[in-house]
Amino acid sequence: MAKPIYVLNGPNLNLLGSREPEVYGRETLDDVRTRCERRAAELGFPLDFRQSNHEGELVAWIQEARMAASGIIINAGAFTHTSIAMLDALLACQIPCVEVHLSNIFTREPFRHQSYISKAAKGVICGFGALGYELAIEALAATDAAGTAS
Ligand code: DQA
Repeated sequence: MAKPIYVLNGPNLNLLGSREPEVYGRETLDDVRTRCERRAAELGFPLDFRQSNHEGELVAWIQEARMAASGIIINAGAFTHTSIAMLDALLACQIPCVEVHLSNIFTREPFRHQSYISKAAKGVICGFGALGYELAIEALAATDAAGTAS
């Protein structure tokens, strides 16, 4: 059995569905979880889907993933733009990581254009809403199958 893909969600993503729906859409985080579980199952991976509003808890989960996961999909929310601690945890991880954002952060306020965590990511998917999580699962599965960074 493959190790699970960890899908880690940062602050305020628990409010999806009611939070700025014109930016983030109407799907809830549970809807996103369901999509992810379905896609991962199709590709033969178990999935561990989590959300936290706390930076330290997210860092601890990234450290846990180092041994326990086959890859990480991370939407770090606003910590994307602030957290060197999460970058360092991801750099220590050595398993493939895909950074996801529901919105296109590059068409938004300038402070969202910088991501601290991108340096540790194999790739970044943004602007496709919840579909981006499914695309990230496909990317991780392809990376795993190929055993390369391609
Ligand atoms: C987000 C974009 C971030 O700038 C923002 O702080 C979020 C959500 C996204 O999914 O589009 O909380 O990561």
